Amino acid sequence: MPGPSGPRGLCKGEVQEGVMSGNEAAATEELKDALPTEVRISPGMNRLTELNRRALENPSEFWEPYADELHWEEREGPLFTKTADPPYGSWFKGWKTNLCYNCVDRWMTTERRNKVAFYWEGEPGEKRTISYHDLYREVNLLASAMKELGVREGDRVAIYLPMIPEAIFAMLATVRLGAIHSVVFGGFTAQALADRMNDSKQRLLITADGGFRAGKIVELKKIADQALLQAPTIEKAIVVKRTGQPVEMKPGRDFWYHDLIAKAKPYVAPEWVDGTHPSFILYTSGTTGKPKGAVHSTGGYMLWLYYTMQAVFDVNDQDVYWCTADIGWVTGHSYIVFGPLLRGATTFFYEGAPQIPTWDRWWSLIERYGVSILYTSPTAIRSFIKQGEALLEKHDLTSLRLLGTVGEPINGEAWHWYNKHIGRGRCTIVDTWWQTETGGILITPQPGTVDIPLKPGSATFPVPGVDAAVVNDEGHEVPRGEKGYIVIRNPWPGQFMTLWGDPNRYKSVYFSRFPGFYYPADFCIRDSDGYFWLLGRADEVMKISGHRLATTELENILIMHPAVAESAVIGKKDEVKGEVPIACVILKPGHTPSPELAKELLDHVRNNLGPFGVPAQIYFVEKVPKTRSAKIMRRLIRDVVEERPLGDMTTLEDETSVEEARRAYEEFKKDIARAKG
Ligand code: WTA
Repeated sequence: MPGPSGPRGLCKGEVQEGVMSGNEAAATEELKDALPTEVRISPGMNRLTELNRRALENPSEFWEPYADELHWEEREGPLFTKTADPPYGSWFKGWKTNLCYNCVDRWMTTERRNKVAFYWEGEPGEKRTISYHDLYREVNLLASAMKELGVREGDRVAIYLPMIPEAIFAMLATVRLGAIHSVVFGGFTAQALADRMNDSKQRLLITADGGFRAGKIVELKKIADQALLQAPTIEKAIVVKRTGQPVEMKPGRDFWYHDLIAKAKPYVAPEWVDGTHPSFILYTSGTTGKPKGAVHSTGGYMLWLYYTMQAVFDVNDQDVYWCTADIGWVTGHSYIVFGPLLRGATTFFYEGAPQIPTWDRWWSLIERYGVSILYTSPTAIRSFIKQGEALLEKHDLTSLRLLGTVGEPINGEAWHWYNKHIGRGRCTIVDTWWQTETGGILITPQPGTVDIPLKPGSATFPVPGVDAAVVNDEGHEVPRGEKGYIVIRNPWPGQFMTLWGDPNRYKSVYFSRFPGFYYPADFCIRDSDGYFWLLGRADEVMKISGHRLATTELENILIMHPAVAESAVIGKKDEVKGEVPIACVILKPGHTPSPELAKELLDHVRNNLGPFGVPAQIYFVEKVPKTRSAKIMRRLIRDVVEERPLGDMTTLEDETSVEEARRAYEEFKKDIARAKG
């Protein structure tokens, strides 16, 4: 795999200031000032346009050479077929393959057999190095143990693990058997885990006694035990011994991972599944309180990761690649596990928190493992900015050559700091825009394919085969420089196929707002050079440290508390986390506001949802402003909480008049002042 090393794609003279998003209105204002001057139309841009044209004109022909590099046990029918219904296309129907085989077995007859698949370090400092052959062995042992427990093609398997090698083994073993995994982020608590296991009637749970995080033990088995009380479809649980603290093991249901492996067979044949067979379900937040199970394919998903891993990260055999995400979120699925392994790359991953034992843990890891590609979030970068550069400067980071970001818009300050202090001014930077639903990266610089001038804050251009546009409420493309909604006007290989058990919701949420188009619910502006600037969510979904959470999900948790009558949650701009939740709470009669009750509510969220969703502030109020049809006026609440004058109310939903909104704003302002006072 040839891949040029050293920095590329960064044209210093043309780097422009970026924008901070989170709040669309403010971002738009900032962006107006920041809109770049014209950049030269580079040969790279012309080449991208040409690739995109070819991929859109004839998808089967364009993708075939890439598909040829992967293993297919059978090929029956065309690579791509148009369909009348969303998502308007199907990929690799009639083609048989196995995702695990392509990530692992495929390398057993090549020199990558003896190459490091990943280095791993635990938070307390243990180290493991897993070669591709080690991976092959581990995955086969686990898959045969799972088969022995009764797991078959199409079964759903819950994975609730810390960031340890077994998490990767578990994902691969599941797809080896043609079963469908559903990874639940280790920061979620019992209720969230149970809801997910029940929604897709999962049969097996793979968990651990605990995990190390920020110097503490997260008691995963204890939490899982609570979830299992309300998840009747789970028949068996496999438990990895990670922390060694005592846990309860229910005889006949719970099995130690190491016991099963000790008597497992060394090989189990991969199940050849159709290209459209679901490989995994990943639950993500939508505008209603109920998380949606995004279902991904096998063939199209595999091809998309195989392609983007090279185009975006330009990964080659000299690289050590580190994606700092958690495998509980899509970034981890796609770019810790499947993408790098499909490319035979060497990765590094780490179990714990960046401040353990001191804030230079990451820099020490990069130095010690010779990490050359780093993929992280703007929130992480902003937390490091707060720490200053003294610790950082003690480390040799010259192994780095390519830096990436994902999960939220990156503000100019964070981009420049990343470039200067981590990249030392000599690394390519890729700002990658995508979603759980899209499977892989859609809009991004593509240094593995072309060089184009970068603009900090802009994810630049779509990957070939993605026809992105920015439209207004009527679905018409807006002029350059104007804000609108991003839409994707064609099917692409990595797209999710449906929502588990809810095909109608799939159509209505994603394909009905602009018929014929996929609607991601993000705001976007294209500048005069055509660059895409993604500005954050256009719906009621928050991105807290890049983690996705619907305001309604948090409201639902709050009203489960006996003292709470009603609540309204908004996302407020935050310097480090991008956004933080703020909750306005109306108490039931007989309960009075107090700091103790506020603390109790915060604990309630921590215990029922997870630490990442805990509100930054709770305001006890008398009422929350609503429209006549009882919709919470979140924009108005946001204006009051962020102490801004009442924003533009001309597009008020329902029959609510501007006058009413203004009155509600004034009343609510008094209410909040009292709550603060
Ligand atoms: C946001 C994460 C701006 C966006 C992979 C999207 C971004 C949501 C970027 C999906 C980016 C992700 N610039 N915004 N580079 N990347 N987003 O499903 O709002 O956790 O809709 O997937 O993150 O979040 P999800």
